[in-house]
Amino acid sequence: MTPSDYEYLRKFLKERSGLDLSADKQYLVESRLLPLARKASLPGIPELVAKMRNGAEALTAEVVEAMTTNETFFFRDKIPFDHLKEAVLPALIQARAARRSIRIWCAASSTGQEPYSIAMCLKEMSAALAGWRTEIVATDLSQGVLEKSKAGLFTQFEVQRGLPIQLLVKYFTQQGELWQLNADIRAMVQHRQLNLLQDFSHLGAFDIIFCRNVLIYFDQDTKATIFDRLAKVLETDGVLALGAAESVVGISDAFKPYPERRGLYRPNPARGTGAGAFPFKVVAAAR
Ligand SMILES: C[S@@+](CC[C@H](N)C(=O)[O-])C[C@H]1O[C@@H](n2cnc3c(N)ncnc32)[C@H](O)[C@@H]1O
Repeated sequence: MTPSDYEYLRKFLKERSGLDLSADKQYLVESRLLPLARKASLPGIPELVAKMRNGAEALTAEVVEAMTTNETFFFRDKIPFDHLKEAVLPALIQARAARRSIRIWCAASSTGQEPYSIAMCLKEMSAALAGWRTEIVATDLSQGVLEKSKAGLFTQFEVQRGLPIQLLVKYFTQQGELWQLNADIRAMVQHRQLNLLQDFSHLGAFDIIFCRNVLIYFDQDTKATIFDRLAKVLETDGVLALGAAESVVGISDAFKPYPERRGLYRPNPARGTGAGAFPFKVVAAAR
């Protein structure tokens, strides 16, 4: 690939998906796009780029998909899900007692392990949530991962990563070499295609947002803009969960880290993005 082709792809991917590739990532682009070129019966990446420059829309969408990293697993990092069960949901059950509804957004849901981990946490608390309306909205840029997520079919390797055996036995049914997630858990998650670079205010307000292991691929300005926009769709006493290697610190003051709850953030009252009355105080103090 020529330097000009690489520059074209870098600019294109930044605009379309937010992916911020450094100057030394040609090998990554080549390893992801060469199979795509071959599939389109093209000899190599220069020819693929030439087609893209000529506006081959279906091909450009495939390039965006091929360049996304979809790595995920059940109960990834464990701690956010422990927080969810031990602190966030109990506190929200108190705070939303009049409304009896909780809305959760999983903002880069990949093949479903993350939203379904959340769904299993809710299911495990179904006694406390009896009569409540709970919504989990799973969104991703990639239509391919959303289709896999909707199917709820996982390989042996996938269910061995992070999923406690008791939950496997309880919520999955073996189908040949695959494991089918039971219909009641699948029905708890709504799937929608959504690019985080685009407006998402139409999704409405959420009590909890999981936006994990996606912003790491974006540059600082894009992250800051997305944090601002996330704060606008999070309830003033809501919770944002980020990935283990991610933080708002030094990037945005729209959120503040929640002390003693690593990976969790609250809207910043000083910025007017939060009410200041954080519901977890009671639960955290009791630990
Ligand atoms: C590494 S996976 C993380 C999945 C899950 N959140 C987790 O932590 O296990 C990143 C996901 O972000 C999605 N993604 C990448 N760019 C995106 C964008 N601009 N808008 C929405 N999703 C995007 C990818 O398709 C991929 O499924």
